[in-house]
Amino acid sequence: MAIQRTFSIIKPDATKRNLTGAINAKIEAAGLRIIAQKRIHLTKAQAGVFYGVHAARPFYDELCEFMASEPVVVQVLEGENAIATYREVMGATDPAEAAAGTIRKDFAISKGENSVHGSDAPETAAEEIAYFFSGLELVG
Ligand code: TYD
Repeated sequence: MAIQRTFSIIKPDATKRNLTGAINAKIEAAGLRIIAQKRIHLTKAQAGVFYGVHAARPFYDELCEFMASEPVVVQVLEGENAIATYREVMGATDPAEAAAGTIRKDFAISKGENSVHGSDAPETAAEEIAYFFSGLELVG
C-alpha cells in the first residue's frame, strides 16, 4: 500500500480536556506522521459545510453546535494506508462499541462527543484537507 494522507480533527470535547497531546501520541505510535496541524475555532456555519453530508440527519444541528463550541485542532496525517490506519486508531463512532486502546474507547464521552474525526475515503480526504489547509502548509 502506498503512502497516503488523511484529514483529522481533534474535536471540542478533547481540546477542552487537554487531550491533544495524548491523542497525538496514539497517532504517532501507529506510525502516522503529523505533517500539518493548527488550532482553529470553527463557526457553526463552517462546521455545517464540513458535515454537509449529514445535513438531513436528526443529529446534524447538535453536531454543528458542538463542533463550534470550543476550539478544535485540525491535522493532516501521512503514512502507509493512512485513511484505514487512522480509522482503526480512532475506533468505532460510538465509544461503547470502540475496541480497547482506541482513541474513542479511551477518551470519547458519547457518540456525539467522540473526540476525533478521520476521513473515510481518498476523495473525502482530499476535499477535507483542501478545505482547511493550503498546499504550502503540508510539510511532508
Ligand atoms: P459518521 O460519519 O457516521 O461517523 P465517524 O465520525 O465515525 O466517521 O458521523 C459523523 C459524526 O456525527 C460522528 O463522529 C458524531 C456524529 N453522530 C452523532 O452525533 N450521532 C449519530 O448517531 C451518528 C451516527 C453520528
